[in-house]
This record gives sequence, structure tokens and C-alpha cells, in this order.
Amino acid sequence: MSRVFSGVQPTGNIHIGNYLGALRQFVDLQDGSECIYCIVDMHAITVPQDPKELKKHILDVAALYMAIGVDPKKSIVFVQSDVKQHAELGWILNCNTYMGELSRMTQYKQKKQKSENPSVGLFDYPVLMASDILLYDTDVVPVGNDQKQHIELARDIAIRVNGKYGKTFVVPEGRFMKSGARVMSLDDPTSKMSKSNPNEKSRICLLDEPGKVKKAIMSATTDSEGVIRYSIKEKPGISNLLDIYSAFSGKSVAKIVKEYEGHGYGDFKKDLVEVVNTSLDPIRARFEEIRNSKELVEALKDGAEKASEIAERTMKRVKSNMGLGL
Ligand code: TYM
Repeated sequence: MSRVFSGVQPTGNIHIGNYLGALRQFVDLQDGSECIYCIVDMHAITVPQDPKELKKHILDVAALYMAIGVDPKKSIVFVQSDVKQHAELGWILNCNTYMGELSRMTQYKQKKQKSENPSVGLFDYPVLMASDILLYDTDVVPVGNDQKQHIELARDIAIRVNGKYGKTFVVPEGRFMKSGARVMSLDDPTSKMSKSNPNEKSRICLLDEPGKVKKAIMSATTDSEGVIRYSIKEKPGISNLLDIYSAFSGKSVAKIVKEYEGHGYGDFKKDLVEVVNTSLDPIRARFEEIRNSKELVEALKDGAEKASEIAERTMKRVKSNMGLGL
């Protein structure tokens, strides 16, 4: 059985990009694989966080995992900082990663520009991510397209360590969706939908009320051609909305384009509001129930215990192969 690992940062409201690119894969995978899903709070602190907000967001993300269908009886769900081996392995991997490799990471370059005084942690983010993945002998990492470079680095580090110290790590593979792997901003469809965009109408969050979803979609940037057709280059706004429609409805883009022949953007957007809200309704309802339940914290504690056992086995192997400790 293959081992799956992925994580989400508790840094704000989870949006449909996170869901369509990564989270919905978590549910699809949990019946045929051994799945481990993490709330990566130590990644969150690579940029400043308010402690109270962080704690709230950790539980929000955990409840959302379960609201979309991650079942803690089938999958291990836990908070990264509750398993100390992530940081421990992170240091060891630091010593097997080159400054040049991290300097080339595009996400670091983008985030550095937004930060007045970037932390060492922000630079080192991809190594902690490699540690998350390699700690669990992960075969498959379900993520959005923006994580491709980070997964490549995790693979390179694994191959390097295996070459230097003998077989130590499983070399992981990324898993990307055909539609939804890169959902774009609604206000600027040439940039990725993100939690940190100051314009709230740039994204749809999983817990947004139906009215807010409607406003965001109806005001999404399109073009003046008035024809519904797919061309990322010429019509990035409509193409992004077509991708979102396709990902939520399961219909192919070609079929949707055919259905809307002769229709204007208004009709298409109204129907898209319906499609998105119908998919989000049950998530919103389950979230409220789970977020306030005792079981949520119990599931996370149980998950951390199970994850620690696997992590400790890996650490023993790593230390032994590298000649560390007594
Ligand atoms: P985060 O929290 O930024 O994003 C969580 C997941 O959502 C995907 N994603 C998107 N997919 C499609 N369209 C978008 N606009 C979009 N925005 C975000 C991300 O690709 C991600 O899969 N570095 C990770 C967190 C992490 C991790 C790991 C993931 C830390 N350790 C180990 C996998 C394995 C991240 O970007 O989180």
C-alpha cells in the first residue's frame, strides 16, 4: 500500500484553490492508501503570526479537513509542531542541502519581496517541507502545481542522502489534478489565487457565505469579447472560471463551452455561483458541527501519537546510517 503525505498551512481562510488543487485529493486517496495529513504550523511561522489567530486557524484547518471528508479513522491527521522529529530531521536535511538550491526557489523569491526583513525560516521553508515528506517514507504527495519545485527539491535531497549514506529515504512523487491544480485569482486571473491577497474578492473561501461567493464570482474579471471559450492566453479570466466550473461539476471544459454557446457571461457566472455553492453547502454545514466537537482535539492527539511512532522509526534509521548519536 502506498503512503501519502500532505499538509496545509494554518495561515488564513482556506480557499477553493487549496481545495481543488490539493484537499479534494486527500479524500480521493484515503481508501486505497495509507494517508497522513498534517497542519503545518511550523511553516506558518516562517512569516509573522498572531499567536491567538494561529491557534484558531490550526483548529479551523483540522475541522475543514474533516468537513471535506478526511476521516481520522482512516487517515492520520495531526499538527506538525506536535511531532518534534520534523524539526530534528529538518536540521539534518539542512546539512545536506545547498544554499544555491534554496536561492533558486521561486516561492522564496516572491515571498521575500513581500517581507521587509525575511527570516532564515522563510529561506529554509522547502527543507522543512522535505523533512515532512521524507519522515514518513512517503510515496505520493498530493499538492497544487505551485509546489512542484518544492517536491523536486525533496526528491533531490532524498536521492543525495541515499547516494551518500545508503538507502535511507523513499523518493516521493508529486500528485497533481488535471483541473484545479492552479486556480487563479478572480480579480487578476494572471496570478494564483492566494490566502494573502488583500482583496477578499480575489478568492472564494470554503466557508464564505453563499452571498459572498456570489459577489466574488459576479465581479470576477473577464474580457469584452462576450464569448465563452477556453484560451488561457487570450481569455485568462473566463478560462479560470471554466476550470473552476469543470473541477466542481466534473464536466469537461469542452462540454461546458458547448452548453454555453450563444450565452453571455452573466448567465454563465450565475450558473457557476450555483455549482460552487451546491458543492460548498455540505462542507460549511459539517464544519460547524466538527469545529465545536470534543472529538476534533482527540483526533489530533491520537494522530500526533501515531505520526510520532512512524517518525521515530525513520529517525533511528537516519541517525544510524549517518553515524549520529551513541
Ligand atoms: P499552502 O497552505 O500554501 O497550500 C495548501 C495546498 O493548496 C495548494 N494551492 C493551490 N492549488 C491550486 N490553486 C491555487 N491557487 C493554490 N494555492 C494553494 C498548494 O499547492 C498546497 O498543496 N508548502 C505547502 C504546505 C506543506 C506541504 C508539506 C505540502 C508543508 N509541508 C509537505 C505537502 C507536503 C503549501 O503551500 O501550503
